[in-house]
Amino acid sequence: MNHMRTIVAGNWKMNTDLASAEALVEGLVKEAAAFPEGVEVVIAPPFPFLEMAVKRCTGARIIVAAQNCHHHEKGAYTGEVSAVMLKSIGVKACIVGHSERRQYSGESDKLIGEKAAALLAQGLTPIFCCGEQKEEREGGHHFDVVTEQMKGALGRFSNPELERIVIAYEPVWAIGTGLTASKEQAQEMHAHIRALLHTHGASVAERVPILYGGSCNPGNAEGLFAQADVNGGLIGGASLVVEQFLELVRIAGAAQVGSRQ
Ligand code: PGA
Repeated sequence: MNHMRTIVAGNWKMNTDLASAEALVEGLVKEAAAFPEGVEVVIAPPFPFLEMAVKRCTGARIIVAAQNCHHHEKGAYTGEVSAVMLKSIGVKACIVGHSERRQYSGESDKLIGEKAAALLAQGLTPIFCCGEQKEEREGGHHFDVVTEQMKGALGRFSNPELERIVIAYEPVWAIGTGLTASKEQAQEMHAHIRALLHTHGASVAERVPILYGGSCNPGNAEGLFAQADVNGGLIGGASLVVEQFLELVRIAGAAQVGSRQ
């Protein structure tokens, strides 16, 4: 799919402090002029470092995303951060439905859909995560699980809204474990997600990038990114090391050129 966008996004999770976050951003900004054409580079630092990241990334081909947001615009929700606030400091995208939020914060598909709606209402891009647990794959239910997550969270959206979403398939058993989905496992799930998108029409299927996430690193990314329906990666651990993240951006650029030939 040569016209498809390619994205490499770094999910820093609850890592870094101000000094190391600044160093990480600077390390990427310094190299941004050399990013391969056509690869969109996204970083998702923790909330306190977003504004710093936005300022330093201005003009540097790096998009700053948040890792979470609240589904309401404002009000008495102590400790929460709204999409309106994120927009006001120049954040352009936000991860929703990460398995760690599903697991530790009890987020349901319905709530995740509401968060995505709040982001779309502000013109921000939701990066919607889905993926099955180990037992679900072993039981052969992985396609059904992802179908349910997609329908439960994204079923409410019109086609023009769906076209503004980015999907990340992240098998839970592969996140932070060093276990990666094989390129065949990734491709068959990405093709399944693409087929689900296709039920909303060809233009949705053709426009929505589907990223792979889960122990993606410079050692395995080449095979994964070369798959027809893998449009880049959502990177956890390897996004905290400048050289590794830059290498993943380079690999994504080479995969994109490869798919055009
Ligand atoms: P990982 O995390 O690359 O460290 O496995 C990916 C993610 O959770 O987004």
